[in-house]
Amino acid sequence: MTSTIVIGAQWGDEGKGKVVDLLAKDADLVVRFNGGNNAGHTVVVQGKKYKFHLMPSGAIQEKKCLVAAGIALDPNVLKKELGQLEQEIDLVIDPRTQIIMPWHNALDNAKETAKGKGKIGTTGRGVGPCYADRASRTGIRFCELVDSEKLKEKIGTGFEAKEKILKNVYGAEMPASKEEIFAEYNALGKEFASYYGDVSLKVSNALKEGKNVLFEGAQGTFLDNDFGTYPYVTSSHPTAGAIFTGVGIGVRPIERIIGIVKAYTTRVGEGPFVTELEGKLGDEIREKGKEFGTTTGRPRRVGWLDLVLLKTSIRLNGFTEIALTKLDVLTGLEKIMVCTEYKWEREKIQELPADLEKLSKCKPVYKEMPGFEMDSSATSFGQLPKEAQDYVAFVEKELGIEAKIVSIGPGREETIVR
Ligand code: GDP
Ligand code: IMO
Ligand code: MG
Repeated sequence: MTSTIVIGAQWGDEGKGKVVDLLAKDADLVVRFNGGNNAGHTVVVQGKKYKFHLMPSGAIQEKKCLVAAGIALDPNVLKKELGQLEQEIDLVIDPRTQIIMPWHNALDNAKETAKGKGKIGTTGRGVGPCYADRASRTGIRFCELVDSEKLKEKIGTGFEAKEKILKNVYGAEMPASKEEIFAEYNALGKEFASYYGDVSLKVSNALKEGKNVLFEGAQGTFLDNDFGTYPYVTSSHPTAGAIFTGVGIGVRPIERIIGIVKAYTTRVGEGPFVTELEGKLGDEIREKGKEFGTTTGRPRRVGWLDLVLLKTSIRLNGFTEIALTKLDVLTGLEKIMVCTEYKWEREKIQELPADLEKLSKCKPVYKEMPGFEMDSSATSFGQLPKEAQDYVAFVEKELGIEAKIVSIGPGREETIVR
């Protein structure tokens, strides 16, 4: 039995949902441990598209799905997701999970508006303000959502404090009255009470029993609150180490740590992007790759594959392998560029700089590769065009890591497992 961590190696939307669904077949438990419904994970099975924001992507394989303490949970979003699934869902929510309240969404949007041009470009889902409350020790947790008395007390203090900030700092309104919020969230708490369970304990026991646990990361490495392109990051840790603190398990070796790597690069929201393609070519790849946000529908910024980013990602996460996705999207291009290093003034840069000013002055150094024509029908690596095989081989060699999964289409079956 092997436990596996699936992590976004770039800036999110690498295709984590697809890979998790694929691997979930052999998993006993599938666990979400970071972020909230800022995530949007897509699974396509027999032409049917599922979009998950909170529910682990193992849901279609009817696996036990767990939402760990590290999650920021919007119960309205989860309710909608549960309602859309025909599958029988075996769901467990940790009592320590932080709850996104309506004032978190209001604050997220008010803060972004106030920042004007300097905005982060958040998903507006209230995730940042919810985690800020966790750090300030004023958050509302799942164990309080399911307990009417405690919920009333928490909303009582939370509401007034947030109303003052919204009104006095941002000139914004509370989205609903205290009574309305209590009535809505109390009902949600009652509805979700049956999902209450200690995820930390369940996962610890499962690992002890040698069960196969699949950890589903959200976001991507460079949106990490510490190691990403701060402040253009999210408020949690999308890096592999976060499974230990996000789930509440002891630090131990995990057999497979898979970095999900898109065959090119995308990013949603603001922040530096060294290999960004603006203009016609960027538009072409965006259209071909359907690069529009799963959560917000925003167009994703598009650029060439960046090996500086990926080398840093491998180091930060300790990947044991990568899954290369969306290779098919590169079809039909005359040539394909891969960024092998950055140039900053006269210096060659191999690791992502922490200083954003320095990063934004870095210029990409490219290796040019020949283009290829392919569709999504190949069932083995050898069936791919030679140039596509060479592209994968070049990336593997430069990164010193194997791409054991190569994805050539959104569907579950459009995957080459090597
Ligand atoms: P996640 O957030 O990492 O789970 O990724 P998203 O679901 O937000 O975005 C990935 C998008 O690419 C989704 O629409 C997937 O259905 C799609 N996708 C995943 N793998 C492939 C692939 O190999 N080829 C193509 N063409 N699309 C893919
Ligand atoms: P998945 O799991 C891509 C980005 C936002 C913004 C920044 C902060 O689908 O890969 P936030 O709402 O988290 O405060 O926004 O992080 N972001 C994502 N970008 N994929 C995601 O998730 C993202 N989750 C957050 O666009 O730039
Ligand atoms: Mg996504």
